[in-house]
Order: sequence, then C-alpha cells, then structure tokens
Amino acid sequence: MLEARDISVTLGRKQVLYGAGLRAKPGAMTVIVGPNGSGKTTLLRAITGDLASRGTVTLDGQDMRALAPHSLAERRAVLPQASVLAFPFTVHEVVRLGLTGRIALRPDAAKLPSRALEQVGLAGYGGRFFQELSGGEQARAQLARVLLQVWEPVQDGTPRWLFLDEPVAALDIGHQLQVMHLARRFARAGGGVVAVMHDLNLTAMFADRVVLMLDGRVLAQGAVREVLTDQNLSRAYGCRLRVSSLPAQGATYILPQAAEIA
Ligand SMILES: Nc1ncnc2c1ncn2[C@@H]1O[C@H](COP(=O)(O)OP(=O)(O)OP(=O)(O)O)[C@@H](O)[C@H]1O
Ligand SMILES: [Mg+2]
Repeated sequence: MLEARDISVTLGRKQVLYGAGLRAKPGAMTVIVGPNGSGKTTLLRAITGDLASRGTVTLDGQDMRALAPHSLAERRAVLPQASVLAFPFTVHEVVRLGLTGRIALRPDAAKLPSRALEQVGLAGYGGRFFQELSGGEQARAQLARVLLQVWEPVQDGTPRWLFLDEPVAALDIGHQLQVMHLARRFARAGGGVVAVMHDLNLTAMFADRVVLMLDGRVLAQGAVREVLTDQNLSRAYGCRLRVSSLPAQGATYILPQAAEIA
C-alpha cells in the first residue's frame, strides 16, 4: 500500500500543493486526473522523492523517503512527463539504463532490453538513434526503459511500482490501448501503478481508482463512478461534461456537452 498524506509543496514563491494526499494499492491501477496546472506532476514527483515536500509518503508502512537510492530504484520506476536527452544515445542504450539492481543479475539480462522494446511495439528499433525517433516512438522507448527497471512486478514477495506521468499523451489510439493494457497487466501481476492522465475515457476504461485534482488539492478520490461524475468533472475542468454508460458493455464514457464547446 502506498500512502501519501498532507503533501504541500512550494516552488519558487508559489505554493503548488496544499495538503494533497492519495492512497494506491498494489494490484491496482490508480489514475490521477485534473486540469493543466492542478498539481498532478508535482504530486507525483513529491511521492517518488524527486521533489522535496512537506507531508509523509509511506510504502507498506515504511517511510519511502528514508529508502536508500538503490532500494528506491528497485522498488519503483518513474516515467517523467518530459525528458530531454543531451547525448546521441541509441534506443538500446536508453532502454538499457533501466537495467539495474537484481534484474541486471538475471541470466537473461542481456536479452531484456529487446524484450522491453517488443512490449512497446518497437522491436528492431534498438540500433537507431533515440533523437531520430518520432515523438510517440521516443515516448514508448522511454516507457521500455521504465518497464525494464521493474521487470518483475513482484520481486521476493515485494510489489514494484510504476509511476507514469502522461504515458499515452503522445500516442495514437492503438498504441494508447497497447500501453494501457501493459500497465494493467503489470498491476494484475501484483505490481502497483500510479499514472497521470488527461484522457478521461481511457481513465474510465482502465482505472481501478481515480484521484481528481484541482488547484493543488485532491477534490475527490475513489472508484471510477464515484469520482468521475458530471458535477466533479464540470467543476474541475470548467466546462460541462456528461458521464454516461453503455449498459451492455458496462463501459463508462465522458462527452462534453456540445452547446458548451463553442
Ligand atoms: N518551478 C516552478 N516554479 C513555480 N511554479 C511552478 C514550477 N513548476 C510548476 N509550477 C506551477 O505549479 C503548478 C502545478 O504544476 P504541475 O506541473 O504539477 O501541473 P500538472 O497538473 O501536472 O499540469 P499539466 O496537466 O499541464 O501537466 C502550475 O501552476 C505550475 O505553473
Ligand atoms: Mg503534468
């Protein structure tokens, strides 16, 4: 169980988070949604220890920020919202950066970067220069690196965690579904997933738990239909949104009210 409580962050002179908190379980996919600037990335970075914050973050009751860097690297992998590469690395070299800790000691370790690339639909791309890939291909190559870092969703009985900041923002719909299925498989195998998303329909389709943020606070968190309501979404996004369902498929979908778009 991951628990972040009362997280406050000030960046420069601006307070960005005001006592935000979330709970996430291994075996489940937790999705953070909310408008631009609401603090999703900041909350994720505070939880993963990439940003100093007030409040507490515990992983199975242990203070996550007290973990040594090498233990932290084994327990969780982080896909940042944007990453810049200054050097002309090949795709294989980028993905291989994820090969750390005990995963690197597996007898099949040398083959794992290629297998991670296959999982994100980039088989055969290893020898190409990362900077020469398209935006969506770069995003998937970074995801392969992150997947490699926590290749076994549960290691020695301890769940591993994936923290993904907008993992599908640059992807076409086919690859979006591929990546969401990958994340879900990781969770179903016992790992924990916390993802920041803008696509409310994919969120409704894949999330087990949703955290809705607004203005540096958590407006609501819980099951999909508890959090993704007309009222919560319209308030958070400042436009009229309607949550409906297709009873036959048991699927929830969200559409803007056309009259409000113009
Ligand atoms: N270094 C910084 N200094 C001052 N303010 C910052 C800094 N970084 C982020 N902010 C502000 O903090 C707020 C939250 O930013 P954050 O990146 O967490 O938003 P977000 O919810 O991830 O948005 P998006 O959907 O656009 O990615 C924004 O108002 C942003 O302008
Ligand atoms: Mg963000």
